[in-house]
Amino acid sequence: MNENEANKSDELIKIKIAHLIKFAQNFQGIEVHVLISGKFVKMNYGSEQFVDILKKLQEKKLEEVYINQVDCKRIMAEIQQIVSSKTSTDQIKMQSSENSIEILKAFITQMGITKEAIDLLNSINKNSLGILQQSPNLMEWIKRFKTSCSEEFLKSILTSYLACRIIDQFPWGSQPIKEKTCLASMLCDINLSKDDFAALNDYEENGTPLSDKIKQHSAEIIKLLSIRKDIVSSETLVIIEQHHERPDGSGFPFGIQGPRFNQLSSIFIVSQQFIHHLVRCNFDYQQRRAILERVYEVYRGKNFDKAMGALVSVVNK
Ligand SMILES: [Fe+2]
Repeated sequence: MNENEANKSDELIKIKIAHLIKFAQNFQGIEVHVLISGKFVKMNYGSEQFVDILKKLQEKKLEEVYINQVDCKRIMAEIQQIVSSKTSTDQIKMQSSENSIEILKAFITQMGITKEAIDLLNSINKNSLGILQQSPNLMEWIKRFKTSCSEEFLKSILTSYLACRIIDQFPWGSQPIKEKTCLASMLCDINLSKDDFAALNDYEENGTPLSDKIKQHSAEIIKLLSIRKDIVSSETLVIIEQHHERPDGSGFPFGIQGPRFNQLSSIFIVSQQFIHHLVRCNFDYQQRRAILERVYEVYRGKNFDKAMGALVSVVNK
């Protein structure tokens, strides 16, 4: 290993070794640094294989390494090609998309939002929805990817899909509005870990109290995105801000009440809630009526009633 003299913390992105290994083909040969006693040390591969070195680090209980920002951008461009390529199989597109979300999480939370990151998120959403729309039905798509993709990833795509179908029920619905809503679905939990998702599920199911970090995650994302209003729309920001709020004021982070929810946020929230319950009952679509009732118990009021009415129409079609 060669020690770096300069402190490179401004140019380096912390990334989980597991994610580098998943994308070993793309990451092959890039500069990898480890943090030892507060100093970044560049790995020297010598004659060893990239993946073998990373696995050795994992054996030493190291979970994260650092890569150059410029390499991360290059990888994002490569992933963009994979998910948009006509020659990639659906499985490869979906798995690459899911893995790349993890890389995007690291990039966005450490470097802030960029046009490239937004473009990649839009591509991932568009291509995943494209695969879903070409499937004979929703359940077939779920069956195909249930075991190969994470629950969180499937939930974000399914929420986009359902929200778009609900938006189509409204006269003001348009493609740009749907795209802004889908982007909210891709970004709203970008700063959460697997453990955070488990805690959120426990909160939704059993009312288990949440940590301050989770309670503030939507406010933190807004802070991160608001400085780039040129690339993230106000509609997307409002949805993200309100996605864990409840009309009775018991939600978080602000505890806002009924009249403050706009129509688009209400649509997004009931979509997300419907998908949450559908996942919890192991995608048993036969339970859709019980799920609708459960969602309606909490999400009522002017704009929520309209969103629920449209959701019922979509689900019963
Ligand atoms: Fe969230």
